[in-house]
Amino acid sequence: TRNGKDANDNLPDLPFVGAITRYLEKDAPAALRKAIAAGKDKQVLDPSYPYPEEMKGKDYDEQMAGLQLQLVRLMHDVIREGKRMIVLFEGRDAAGKGGTIERVRENLNPRSAYIVALPKPNEREADEWYFQRYVDWLPARGEIALFDRSWYNRGVVEKVFGFSSNAQRETFFRQLPLFENMLVDDGVILVKLWLEVGRAEQLRRFLARERDPLKQWKLSSIDVDGLAKWDDYSAAIRDTLLRSHSGIAPWTVIRADDKRRARIAAIQTILRSVEFRGRDDRLIGQPDPQITGGPEILP
Ligand code: ADP
Ligand code: AMP
Ligand code: MLT
Repeated sequence: TRNGKDANDNLPDLPFVGAITRYLEKDAPAALRKAIAAGKDKQVLDPSYPYPEEMKGKDYDEQMAGLQLQLVRLMHDVIREGKRMIVLFEGRDAAGKGGTIERVRENLNPRSAYIVALPKPNEREADEWYFQRYVDWLPARGEIALFDRSWYNRGVVEKVFGFSSNAQRETFFRQLPLFENMLVDDGVILVKLWLEVGRAEQLRRFLARERDPLKQWKLSSIDVDGLAKWDDYSAAIRDTLLRSHSGIAPWTVIRADDKRRARIAAIQTILRSVEFRGRDDRLIGQPDPQITGGPEILP
């Protein structure tokens, strides 16, 4: 591990590396291939994305610095007042959930703000009440639970890959408002974020992961097999968001083609979802309405 070099012997098998490039070369629709080639490895902003370019690094850093200070204030208030908070980070594969969560968490006390990233259900969990294993991770007083994916797996990835039956899915949608309403009724602050990324930019990020030894671990068979299922995803996403967008537990959809704008909008949304001592709405600003809204802004 000297000089950042690694002895190769102990690296785990990375069976998905190469599969993204093969998809690009063999199976990808021509328009997608063209968009990737034209992007020259910079962010490929969707034609329907409202900005032609990514946000400038300097503007991002400045705005982010203020938001980080406000997040720390929020955390102090959560601890002092014994609040409980849940933020769900949902979105397409490679939409930037992981990176956004890192930016939310980086200056917070890990005992107070923790990440929940559950693996696929094991055999025992698969036969439990669907919400059961998530309940274990709900916040106690003074805690902020950051969910990297959540119970919404049943609505989207499980539908697209057939991991659960239609009957299970309908049960999920019937129980969902009962479950979320109980949380909110009990005083839990619940924020639901959906990060949406365009198809070409998603593919570009997968290709970049494939080349980066520090990021290859992020690739999974779901990512690879999901490439050909873009439209199935779109339908499942639309269905899920519309059926779970309630007054008590609304979604905030953020168009995340540009990661910087998306991270800022996500943190602004979190900060505006709760009153806290020291909240400064001028410093926080409004989430950009061009990239932030309800399910109706899905492209
Ligand atoms: P991530 O993108 O979060 O790193 P993956 O791409 O591997 O993870 O999987 C996406 C989601 O699909 C995960 O939340 C995972 O738990 C879920 N998943 C994968 N396989 C199954 C399965 N057989 N049954 C239910 N859920 C699954
Ligand atoms: P507890 O002692 O149960 O209050 O949990 C202490 C910390 O463990 C919590 O603040 C969470 O960060 C984490 N935690 C919550 N649920 C679980 C769980 N099911 N398994 C392991 N750790 C958990
Ligand atoms: C991320 O970019 O962190 C993703 O949204 C996680 C994933 O690949 O599914």
